[in-house]
Parts: sequence; C-alpha cells; structure tokens
Amino acid sequence: MRTQVVIVGGGPSGLLLSQLLHLRGIESVILERQTRAHVLGRIRAGVLEQGFVRLMAEAGCDRRLQAEGIPHHGTLISQDDTVLRIDFSALTGSSVVVYGQTEVTQDLYAAREAAGGGIEFSVEDVAIHDADRDTPFVTYSRDGSERRIDCDFIAGCDGFHGVSRKTIPDKVRREFEKVYPFGWLGILSETPPVSDELIYANSSHGFALCSMRNPRLSRYYVQCPITDNAADWSDEAFWTALRQRIPAEAAARLETGPSIEKSIAPLRSFVTEPMRWGRLFLCGDAAHIVPPTGAKGLNTAASDVHYLYTGLRQFYEENDAEGIDRYSERALARVWKAERFSWWLTGLLHRFPDQSEFDTRMQRAELDFLAGNEAAQKVLAENYVGLPY
Ligand code: APR
Ligand code: PHB
Repeated sequence: MRTQVVIVGGGPSGLLLSQLLHLRGIESVILERQTRAHVLGRIRAGVLEQGFVRLMAEAGCDRRLQAEGIPHHGTLISQDDTVLRIDFSALTGSSVVVYGQTEVTQDLYAAREAAGGGIEFSVEDVAIHDADRDTPFVTYSRDGSERRIDCDFIAGCDGFHGVSRKTIPDKVRREFEKVYPFGWLGILSETPPVSDELIYANSSHGFALCSMRNPRLSRYYVQCPITDNAADWSDEAFWTALRQRIPAEAAARLETGPSIEKSIAPLRSFVTEPMRWGRLFLCGDAAHIVPPTGAKGLNTAASDVHYLYTGLRQFYEENDAEGIDRYSERALARVWKAERFSWWLTGLLHRFPDQSEFDTRMQRAELDFLAGNEAAQKVLAENYVGLPY
C-alpha cells in the first residue's frame, strides 16, 4: 500500500492533521492502536484557544463546537477566600471556549469517516522505517497479518507513550523533563457547575480547580499525593477536600452528587527536541507534555498541527520545503512558551511537599501583585487565551 502521509495515532492531533490535509487533496492514513470507542472514552480537558477553534473551522468540523461550546471571557483565581477575576476580554480582546476534548475527537472522527478517511483501528507493532531517507515506510500488524505502507512523510501523533519519538536516534534526540511531586484527582459529576467561570484555587490545603463540560456536567480536581489511588478516595472525601480549598461562598453553594468518573493524573513537563527527523514529524503529546494547570495540552498540539499542515501544503502545492524544514524550529518556539506558562501557573497555585514558609509567602506575594497589577494580569491572560501561531 502507498499514501502521501502516514499518521501514527488517532487522537486529536492525528485526526485534525488528517482532516486538514484531506481538504487540500493530500492523502493520509491514520494508524490507531486502540478501538474507536476506547479513544472516544477518554476524559480530557476542554478549554480551547481561539487558534484551535479557527483550525476546527478550517477543517470543517466546528458546527457543534460553535453551537455547544461555552465562551469564557475570564477566569477566577482564588487564594483561600480572596477571589481575583482575570478579565480575558478586557485585557486581550480575546476569550476561550469550553468544549470537551471528547467532543472535539467525536467531531473529527465524524468528519474523517464522512470523507471516507483511511483510519485503521486496533493496529499493533507499528514500526517506522527509513525516516531519514526519501523512501520511508511503516510496518504494522492487524488481525494477525503483517502490513506495510510506503509514504512520503510520517506524522508521529501517537502521544507520550507512542513509538514515534523513540524512532529518533538517541544521539539526535534531546529530552527535557520535570516531574511534579503531586497529581490531580479529577471527578465528573452530573451537577450544575459551582461557578460560570473556572475557579483555580490556591489554598493551605492544596490546589483545586472547578471546571465544567456543560451546564449539567461539572469537572472538579483536587491536588493529591502522587502515591494516592483514585479508589482510595470516596466521593464524600473528595467533596470535603474541594470545599476546604475553594472560596467559602463557592463551597456554600456547591452542589455535589455521585462521581461518574474518578481518576488521578500525574503532572509532568516534557519536551523533545528536535520535533523532526528526516521524513518524520512529531506532533502533540508525542513531542511534549504540560501539567494541565494552564490547559495547554490540546492547544499546543493544535499549533503543531497548524505548522505541519502548512508546511506539507507548501511542499505539495508549491514544491517548497521551507515550511517542513522550519517545522521543528517554529513548533518548538511556541511549545516552550506554553511549557513556561504551565510550569509557572503550576508553581504559583500548588502546595509542594517540601514547600517552606518562605515559599508560601512568595506565592502569596505573587498573587497579591497579580491582584493589584493590570500588566501582570495581561501577561497571564495573553498566555491563557493563547499566544499567536
Ligand atoms: N501505534 C498506534 N497508535 C498509537 C500508538 C502506537 N504505537 N501509541 C499510541 N497511539 C495512539 C493512542 O491510542 C492515542 O489515541 O495515539 C493517540 C495519541 O493521542 P493523544 O495521547 O490524545 O495525543 P494527541 O493526539 O497529541 O492529543 C494531545 O490529548 O492527551 C491529551 O492532554 C493531551 O489534550 C492533549 C491531547
Ligand atoms: C478541565 O475542564 O478538565 C480543565 C480545565 C482547565 C484546566 C485543566 C482542566 O486548566
């Protein structure tokens, strides 16, 4: 079999890239190791930058996003009972849209399948060959038979645990990592969100986040020891911890209910350089991971897709390799800024196990400065709504 672009991974990165390429007549095949149902069953953050919304519109996949996405013109940052609102619209003229990643993935799958897009599920043993030559190919197995696809390019959209990143030789690849000494215990509950806007809470008990999926579905998180298991947390223990960490007026009106999903996510910052090796390009979580504090995971995957899609279009339509040659440089320039913002916001809002009294005063001083300085709020707002591509 032969195609122009093999895309390893059928998550948001791979699906969005495939759909954008398709609309320009560039053929691709997605190889996904899980089933469609498994991919769609993932519960992930859904705060979308306008750049992502524009890409979904360019991909012809924004109908439901425009109808059901909830515009957010600001967010709340609390320090115990003190609440600061960061006014995105006043400070940047922009906003974000709350729309679950599960919905994004559903919309992208629907578009690919409507277009008869090549997606192979439940593949195994994907291996990338000759990526450093002009005749790369990918081998894999499905239903017990070995298969091969010859191609022009390979997009490694297979996430942090995929094979693409490791295809780049150790002597070429550099990795940068910071693992945080805590996790996020998250639940979904069929209850009305406690606030119309997200609440990022710094408290002496630890970090908490109040988010949502829609007016009837809330998403809450509390910082927890990385050694905890979700099963160790009863719903009651979760709600008690949340109430202790959010402002009293929010705790008083919090509507609780049974958790319909409960899980713990580790927090790490991670970047691979370069994001290109010959005919192989890394996109999204395959190349970088951020702590979820700044909601940058999906949005940084989107800017990678933008740079790669633009470069591949330039190659095929204008016979110009400038875009793909500068892909890694351009993508990493924005990736590192998203890493910095996510690292900074995580450090500002969480309680670290070895945190000294001085460290706590530094957090308090930074939050106090933020509350009183419009320039500081503008810097936070510009990073949160999304830096330009
Ligand atoms: N072969 C084929 N598919 C693979 C392989 C492999 N060896 N390894 C992983 N995959 C698939 C996974 O099953 C998954 O569906 O690649 C896909 C990668 O998707 P994501 O991990 O969602 O990564 P990405 O598409 O870059 O999206 C980034 O997802 O994880 C969140 O926070 C992250 O919001 C961000 C977004
Ligand atoms: C979520 O709704 O899951 C969410 C929102 C904002 C974040 C992280 C997660 O920063």
